Amino acid sequence: MSPTHQAGDTAIPEKPCAYRAQLLYFRARPGDTPEDGSTVWLSDGLLVVEGGRIAQVGDYRQLAPSLGADVPVVDWRGKLIVPGFIDTHIHYPQTDMIASPAPGLLPWLEKYTFPTERRFENPDYAAEVARFFLDELQRCGTTTALVYCTVHAGSAEAFFTESHARNLRMAAGKVMMDRNCPEFLRDTAESGARDSETLIQRWHGKGRQMYALAPRFAPTSSEAQLAVCGELAQRYSDVFIQSHVAENQAEVKWVGELFPGHRSYLDVYDHFGLLRRRSVYGHCIWLDDVDRRRMHETGALAAHCPTSNQFLGSGLFDFAAAQATGQPVSLATDVGGGSSFSMLQTMNEAHKVARLSGYHLSATTMFYLATEGAAQSLDLGGQIGTLAAGAEADFIVLDPQATPLLARRTAASESLEELLFALAMLGDDRAVAASYAAGRKLHQREDRPARNS
Ligand code: GUN
Ligand code: ZN
Repeated sequence: MSPTHQAGDTAIPEKPCAYRAQLLYFRARPGDTPEDGSTVWLSDGLLVVEGGRIAQVGDYRQLAPSLGADVPVVDWRGKLIVPGFIDTHIHYPQTDMIASPAPGLLPWLEKYTFPTERRFENPDYAAEVARFFLDELQRCGTTTALVYCTVHAGSAEAFFTESHARNLRMAAGKVMMDRNCPEFLRDTAESGARDSETLIQRWHGKGRQMYALAPRFAPTSSEAQLAVCGELAQRYSDVFIQSHVAENQAEVKWVGELFPGHRSYLDVYDHFGLLRRRSVYGHCIWLDDVDRRRMHETGALAAHCPTSNQFLGSGLFDFAAAQATGQPVSLATDVGGGSSFSMLQTMNEAHKVARLSGYHLSATTMFYLATEGAAQSLDLGGQIGTLAAGAEADFIVLDPQATPLLARRTAASESLEELLFALAMLGDDRAVAASYAAGRKLHQREDRPARNS
């Protein structure tokens, strides 16, 4: 049996089911002390799921006696259940070109990205990649993502169709791009807006699907296209906006030439009404504090993509400056510029990027950013990113003994922070024993944990 999703079985299990394991979720951003109330960590917990939602969460000994005799209890003791990870920036069409090296962003786009994205004019190819991509997210424990499609409306259609069939909570959108790209990937201000609006009406709010307007980045959109995108963003105020900003120095210089008269690259998006809650900007490396404060004021969210930034040599995200200015921050893979689908590996690299600038990014904070923090920043708090009662039952089972080294290291961990740190530094898809979305198990790791035997 394939360990991943079986097509055609999308029903939410109505009957209650309970899960016994260590449980971890957050009420707020963790502070400096473990006792600040932000973190809920139950060493022997029980999670009760019903109708695709979390019905109850608490200590096993307290909750178990009130559980109906007919409610099955899945025994995940020895494992850690956390909310499913939220990846705030990823390109599904770049799945087949992950790990394609280039001397920097702009040559990488020309040499690999645009030719690969051309293939999505074929809806069968798009559907096949969407299936593989979602399988891969499930294997890595990511249950929600903000996903770029290609310029082809059919690429978004294929993605939403597959995501809806699995009942995943995903946000996605067709890329808008009307200049500075190959002719075969070009829309126009009018056609891009029309296709985006049609997709919004078809998919935004259908089941768990959400739309994200996706002007690729300022260099590939005319002023006319950014203007109509801003109008759509105003008219459909609860759709997401996703784009790239200040990733690479050559790109920043180019934007200065294309949009003279703006204070900064970010200011171009601001001018067209594209900074607001539910807008998410990938990278945010070459910003200044005025930009960062503007993101704070508007509620625009930075998607920090550490594996991509190192892989493409783009630069180092400044966590200290983000914290000092209140710039909202989340974690993201940016596959295929990013080199891993795993949010655990993304945490590993985020920690190191922060370390290089003298900032200590704790594992507890990174788990918060990848769950409750992202949900709050995306205005999805209480819905996803948490194990609190009432939330949608998107959760994953992490295995602290997934590899011999993880088993050895976590056996010696003396605090939650040490346990999470080991998972973040040493874990990847192997550490994800199972993934659940809306209460349904979509992935279970095939192999049994490798122990020292
Ligand atoms: N900037 C514009 N498009 C892209 C893309 O596809 N990936 C990355 N990393 N940066 C971009
Ligand atoms: Zn990207």
